[in-house]
Amino acid sequence: MQKNHDEINPPPRILMGPGPVDADPRVLRAMSMPLLGQFDPQFTEYMNEIMTLYRHVFQTRNHWTFLVDGTARAGIEAILTSVISTGDTVLVPVLGRFGQLLCEIARRCRAEVIPLETEWGSVFDPQRIEHAINQHRPKLLALVQGDTSTTMAQPLAEIGPICRAHDVLLYVDATASITGMDLRTDDWQIDAVSAGLQKCLSGPPGIAPITFNERVEQLVLRRKHVEEGIRSASAPDADGEIIQSNYFDLPMLMDYWSDKRLNHHTEATSMLYAAHECARIVVAEGWEARFARHVLASDALCAGLTAMGLSLFGDQVHKMPNVTGVYIPDGVPGEEVRAAMLHNFGIEIGTSFGPLHGRIWRIGTMGYGCSRRNVLSCLAALEATLRQHGHKAAWGEGVDAATAIYAAAD
Ligand SMILES: Cc1ncc(COP(=O)(O)O)c(C=O)c1O
Repeated sequence: MQKNHDEINPPPRILMGPGPVDADPRVLRAMSMPLLGQFDPQFTEYMNEIMTLYRHVFQTRNHWTFLVDGTARAGIEAILTSVISTGDTVLVPVLGRFGQLLCEIARRCRAEVIPLETEWGSVFDPQRIEHAINQHRPKLLALVQGDTSTTMAQPLAEIGPICRAHDVLLYVDATASITGMDLRTDDWQIDAVSAGLQKCLSGPPGIAPITFNERVEQLVLRRKHVEEGIRSASAPDADGEIIQSNYFDLPMLMDYWSDKRLNHHTEATSMLYAAHECARIVVAEGWEARFARHVLASDALCAGLTAMGLSLFGDQVHKMPNVTGVYIPDGVPGEEVRAAMLHNFGIEIGTSFGPLHGRIWRIGTMGYGCSRRNVLSCLAALEATLRQHGHKAAWGEGVDAATAIYAAAD
C-alpha cells in the first residue's frame, strides 16, 4: 500500500554543537532562488563573484580561489590528492581528530605520512615543527588551524616562514576556524587552504571553498590529464603522475573555474548560491566586528560555565573562540544531559571523540549562532538540566556571569 509521507518540517532548534550550526536565514533564502544553467552568463558571473568574495574570506590575492562540491573534506581531498604524488613525505602535526583525518587522507594518496603527536588539548611549538622538518624533509606540511575535536587553535604566523625557509609546502584545513578567527593566507605564507560552510560561515554543509598559490598551481599543472570526452586536441597530457581522483582533480577544476569553463561536473547550483551569500555577509560585517563578536561570546560562555562550578577543557590560551570544551562533572550522565537539553530547550550541544569521549561537552558559538541570546539561553538550559540530573549548579550564577561580560562590552 502507498504510504503518504509528511513534508519535511524540522522542529525548531538552536544548534550549538561543533557544527553544523544554524544557517543564516539569508543563506537559506539565497538557496531557494531559481536554478540557472551552469554556463548561463549570469551563473558564470556569480562564479567570478565567488572567486572575489572568497579572496576576502581567505585574506589572499591568490587567483585560484574557488569552490569544490562536497562537504569540507572534499576541499581537503582536492588539495591533498592533487598535490601528493606516490611516495611523497607529508608531515602532519596532529592536534586531534581532524589532524588524524589529514594523515588518513594523505595515506590514501600513497604518501609517507609522519604524524607529530601532542596531548589533546594542547598545540605545537613552531620550533618543534621546524625540528621535525629538518629531520624528515617533507614535501608538504599539512595541519588544522582549529581542531573542533579538542577546541584548540594552532598559531600559524610563524609556521609559514619556517616552511618557506625549508622549501616545504604548507596546507591548512581551516574548516572550523574560517571567519571565526584570523587566517591570513598571504601574510602567513600558507600555500593552500580549504574550508567548509557549516561552521562560522553559517551555511549548510555541502560545498568547500579553497585557495592556493602559484607554487601549488605549478605543481598540480605538472600532473594535468584532462578526461577523454572533454579534452581538446591542444591539451596534451602533462608528464607527472595522473591525479587519482577525477572529481577532485585541481587542474580540471581550474579549467572549469577559468574562462575555459571546461564542462567537468554539474555544478551544485544552490550550494554555490549559499556560498555566495555566506561570504557576502562576512564582507558586510567586517573583520574587526566579526572577530570581536566571537571572542566576546567565548569570554561570556567561559565565564558562565566557570561560575556554575564547571571546569573548562584544554589550554585556554589557545582555545578556539568559536568552540568551548567543558568537562562533564563527575557522576553526571553526559549523554542524558545533552538529550534533555535538546528535548526540553531545543538546544543541541556536542559530544566528543576518542580520548575525550564521555569526558567533555563541546559548545559552539559560530557565525550566525554566535549571539548573546544563544550564549545566555545555553547557560540557563545547562544550569537547569544539571540540577535536574543531581548536580548542584548554583541557580542563575552562570547566566549572571555571562550577562556581566556582555554588559561590560556594551
Ligand atoms: C577541522 C575540521 N576539518 C574537517 C572537517 C570535516 O568536514 P566535513 O564533515 O564537512 O567533511 C571538520 C568537521 O567537523 C572539521 O571540524
